[in-house]
Amino acid sequence: MQAQALLAEGVAALRAAGIDGATRDARWLLAYALDLPPERLTLALQEPVTAPQLAAFRDAIAARAQHKPVAQITGQRLFWGRSFRVTQDVLDPRPETETLIEAALDLPFARLLDLGTGSGAILLTLLAERSEATGTGVDLSAAALDVALHNARSLGVAQRADLRRSDWYSAVTGRFDLIVSNPPYIAAPAHASLAPDTRLWEPRMALVPAACDGTGLAAYRMITAKACDFLTPQGWLMVEIGLGQGPEVAALMTGAGMRAPRILPDMTGRGRVVAAQAP
Ligand SMILES: C[S@@+](CC[C@H](N)C(=O)[O-])C[C@H]1O[C@@H](n2cnc3c(N)ncnc32)[C@H](O)[C@@H]1O
Repeated sequence: MQAQALLAEGVAALRAAGIDGATRDARWLLAYALDLPPERLTLALQEPVTAPQLAAFRDAIAARAQHKPVAQITGQRLFWGRSFRVTQDVLDPRPETETLIEAALDLPFARLLDLGTGSGAILLTLLAERSEATGTGVDLSAAALDVALHNARSLGVAQRADLRRSDWYSAVTGRFDLIVSNPPYIAAPAHASLAPDTRLWEPRMALVPAACDGTGLAAYRMITAKACDFLTPQGWLMVEIGLGQGPEVAALMTGAGMRAPRILPDMTGRGRVVAAQAP
């Protein structure tokens, strides 16, 4: 069978399953099945596929038709130009989180703490960008920490990354120049209305704070309340936020004794990050 015909079959199957972006996803999954960089797929479309490639593609399409995210099928996500392993145990790193990376790289830091590190996307990117920095990444999920450790090794920063299981600060010691976090911020009732890719396949604990108070702010309350105990003087706390949460998160930071919180926009102009400085 020719790759072009196989691609058409995959697109049709994804459309029938109601997947948005069926052509884009089928092309991506065909490149994965053929073990090609996606940009080289067009050249290969006139070639015949082997039986194992055919089987790999059909398996991938069947998984995508069940709304499994492409990154979980291929096991990889490109974030800030680097490849991260992604499994069902971690949040698939989002492009909007690169707003936090960009803002953090404007700050001076040598010691970094990432609360809720997941795949390690934030911590490991910042360590890779700052070759003299060291960092601690914590998560409540042991399975997520296994993924982060794999990524730390593959990115060559494992020697500078201390990954540990912790309920926010519970197993953290010392002080840091920068604390970063992209915590769960979806209110529990809103989980049911998330897109199936997220709702069915991403870990609920990465999306909804455990002690949910109905607003999705529970994790921010925990993180801001103790931030000054773990920051060096004039150190920074920087968190990613959900839609419209900026003013409330900024107020939590002020209430915790931090100075002049700023709400920073993402590439669509929406408030995406809140940053404030310790006294
Ligand atoms: C939104 S995900 C962020 C993952 C990653 N930092 C990123 O930006 O792609 C939130 C992470 O917080 C972790 N988490 C949830 N509750 C936690 C807690 N009480 N203590 C530590 N981590 C927690 C989840 O397991 C998940 O990995």
